[in-house]
Amino acid sequence: TRRITVRDIAAAKERGEKWPMLTAYDAMTASVFDEAGIPVILVGDSAGNCHLGYETTVPVTLDEMTMLSAAVVRGTRRSLIVGDLPFGSYQEGPVQALRSATRLVKEAGVQAVKLEGGERSHEQIRLLVESGIPVMAHIGLTPQSVNAMGYRVQGRGEEAAAQLLRDAKAVQDAGAFAVVLELVPAGLAAEVTRTLHIPTVGIGAGAETDAQVLVWTDMLGLTGGRLPKFVKQYADLRAVMGNAAKAFAEDVVGGTFPLEEHSVH
Ligand code: KIV
Ligand code: NA
Repeated sequence: TRRITVRDIAAAKERGEKWPMLTAYDAMTASVFDEAGIPVILVGDSAGNCHLGYETTVPVTLDEMTMLSAAVVRGTRRSLIVGDLPFGSYQEGPVQALRSATRLVKEAGVQAVKLEGGERSHEQIRLLVESGIPVMAHIGLTPQSVNAMGYRVQGRGEEAAAQLLRDAKAVQDAGAFAVVLELVPAGLAAEVTRTLHIPTVGIGAGAETDAQVLVWTDMLGLTGGRLPKFVKQYADLRAVMGNAAKAFAEDVVGGTFPLEEHSVH
């Protein structure tokens, strides 16, 4: 077996094939998705909310992303692993972006990195790509800018739609191999998808993008509380795990675990 490459991803768009992406933040979860045939796994900085207990993705550090990305790479054999560059690790400019991306590639072993921003990040994308690091871009809602933009639908209205199209073209021209469209009206995401020759990866961006990504803890029902409208929950891990923990606690308190069969003599 060999890993999926960015060339396989480009070929999928030419064939008109849709593909799924999931996040993962640890080796075991990643190994499940790898064995299930998920072609691309994103070590998202959503790890901030979904794995590390922060309120937003803003506090996540490059050290944390390096550690989590390395675990996901170790847990997988076939999936293409994309590591997120966290807030503050690329905004200073292309050289800082290259230094940060190099850590994820060399220390963690990811095959590609992702960063947020369209026109504003095109110089960073260009240098990484010229240096041999495939880049997935991310436009529309960019959660690292939550303090400036909040969590609102992006690209509504003529001016915002035109800006989103400019952002999409800018990341493609800079050499990105794919672009995430987050929380963008479906019609606009469809237009971007038709316009670009690189694949679009939608989250809350309708049905017409080339790929779809979900945060794994949302998709499997581990995240507590209310989920965004665009999430489909495929399992209820929170209930499965909670019920198992309660059953274990009852067994211990009631003396029904361990039994003879669980004991050594
Ligand atoms: O960090 C993340 O999980 C992401 C996806 C939602 C695209 O950036
Ligand atoms: Na992210």
